[in-house]
Order: sequence, then C-alpha cells, then structure tokens
Amino acid sequence: ASTSIDEFHEVLRTSKRIVALCGAGLSAASGLDTFRGAGGMWRNYQATSLATPEAFEKDPGLVWLFYGYRRHKALQAKPNMGHFALAELAKKKGDGFMCITQNVDGLSQRTPHPRSQLKLIHDTLFDLKCFSCDYREIDNFNDPVHPSLTIDDESVTARLAGASTNPFHNRIAFLDPATPQTIDPAELPHCPKCTHGLLRPGVVWFGESLPQDTLKEIDDWFDQDRVDLILVIGTSAAVYPAAGYVQIAKRHGARVAVVNMDKDSLGSASNLRKTDFLFQGDAAELLPQMLGPIRDRRKAS
Ligand code: APR
Repeated sequence: ASTSIDEFHEVLRTSKRIVALCGAGLSAASGLDTFRGAGGMWRNYQATSLATPEAFEKDPGLVWLFYGYRRHKALQAKPNMGHFALAELAKKKGDGFMCITQNVDGLSQRTPHPRSQLKLIHDTLFDLKCFSCDYREIDNFNDPVHPSLTIDDESVTARLAGASTNPFHNRIAFLDPATPQTIDPAELPHCPKCTHGLLRPGVVWFGESLPQDTLKEIDDWFDQDRVDLILVIGTSAAVYPAAGYVQIAKRHGARVAVVNMDKDSLGSASNLRKTDFLFQGDAAELLPQMLGPIRDRRKAS
C-alpha cells in the first residue's frame, strides 16, 4: 500500500464517488476513549461489557451511570479537524460522498456536515428509546427533521449547565462517576408510551439490530454506481456490518485509504493491495492533509 499523500491527492482529484467509514479513532483527538484501546475501561468495567441489553437488564442504573458519563464527556468534547475535514468533503462532493459512522458521540453533527450524507449506524448517545416497546425520543441533537436545530456551542454549554430536554439526563450527567454504585430503577426514566418500560440510551448495543432505514440508505447509495475510494478512518473494522462495507466498496471498484494510529490494528476486512493507501497517525492531523485539495479547490473555483 502507498503512503504517499501526493499519490492520494491524485486519486482524490479524480474520485467521483467517495465513502468514509469512521470509528472511535476519529474522536480520539477530541478526548473520547476508543473501545478496544487502553481507554476502553470505565471504573473497572470493560466498556463493551456495559453496552449490552443483558447489562441493562441486570443493572439498568449502572448502565445509565455509564451512559450519563459518556454523554457528559461527549458534550465536553469538541469536534476536531478530522470531523471538520470530512464536513468540508461532504459539502464539496454532495451526493458523491457518504460518511458512515459507528460513533455515537454526536461530534460529526456539531460540524457543518450535511445530515443527508451522515449515516449513524449505531444511532446516538443523545436519543432515548424504550427497553420494552417501540417508543423512541429523538434528541434535538440528532433530529433529522429539524436540521435547523444546529448544535452550536451555546446549546452544548446550556446542555452541560443542566438544560437538557430531559431532567433525568441533567441528574445523571452530573453524578460523580466514582461515587454511586447504581441508581434505583424506581428513579430511572420510564416510557411515556407503555408506561412500564424503562427508557434506555438510544444507541445500538451488541447483539441488537442496526437502524434498518439507515442501512437501506447506505445500500442504495452503494447500488447507485461504482465507488472510487473508501476512507477507513479510526476503526478496527472489527464489528459488522461496518467491516463489511470495506468489502462492498472494493467490490464496487474502490481503492482503500486507511487512516489509523496503529498500522496493524485493522481487522482482515481491509487487507490492503498495492493500489491502496495506509496513513499511520492521528486522524485529526491526517485528514486535513489528505482532504486539503478539496478545500483549496473550493477556494480556487
Ligand atoms: N487516529 C486514528 N486512529 C486511531 C486514533 C487516532 N487518534 N486513536 C485510535 N485509533 C484507532 C485504533 O488503532 C483502532 O483501530 O481507532 C480504532 C478504534 O477501534 P475501536 O476502539 O475498536 O473502535 P471502533 O472501531 O469504532 O469500534 C467499532 O465496536 O465497540 C463497538 O459499537 C462499538 O462503535 C463501536 C464498534
């Protein structure tokens, strides 16, 4: 695989259809932990052991404390130059670019990234859904219907100051993650629709199905035409269907450009060919360099 940014710029310049597959590594520079790195721990739990329906069934209060902590961290974080470089690419390429993200931190939504080109396959920390029925509460941070509700710094600051649309979130977001062992289920938010179900974070947990409408939008985009380039950014590509998208893009003719801190961390999903690219380093630094010409061209035109 090539490590030449100039060669990559050549491919970028002639690429009509580009897809990005993003993972936790894209948000690492914003201070958010990845799952499988050293940071994947919270208290003495492996983060991935709490992101399951079984964990919620067993101790919903503990899982809510974990997600209250993650929401608070996500709100305190800021999108980095990698998020903004992708937003620039999306604005420049229009429907010729799709960003598939596994991240639930809401950072991409806090850039000018057009929502129609941002596919959240694990949904978002800020939505709520019922553990027992089909009720879902779209948080205005992720509301596709009202993109005008831009997530500006003021709304984030207000949210951090306890102005969440959901009083329960204000409470758990400020609990010191080190003290309470759990929260009594009687104090947890209940579903306004079925009234007996507990509300839970609106993210996709291990073993759960992904948002079918989002998956369909992704498949439709792939099926429209050939693909020239897939950017595999900050992901171990260890979890399907994300890992599968690398294969689909290759089948549609795409060259692969991997952006990862650790060159060996990628699953087999991306065994790279001579015509592919491997850029080792921080996505927040590499993406602006890689996608720079897109921005410059905008200035030129
Ligand atoms: N820049 C680029 N890549 C980075 C950086 C960085 N600053 N820091 C870490 N990485 C890379 C790691 O080398 C690793 O390959 O990001 C990847 C993070 O991998 P994971 O922690 O497995 O995160 P992700 O791939 O997003 O996990 C996929 O699995 O745990 C579930 O649902 C969860 O969405 C998550 C999914």
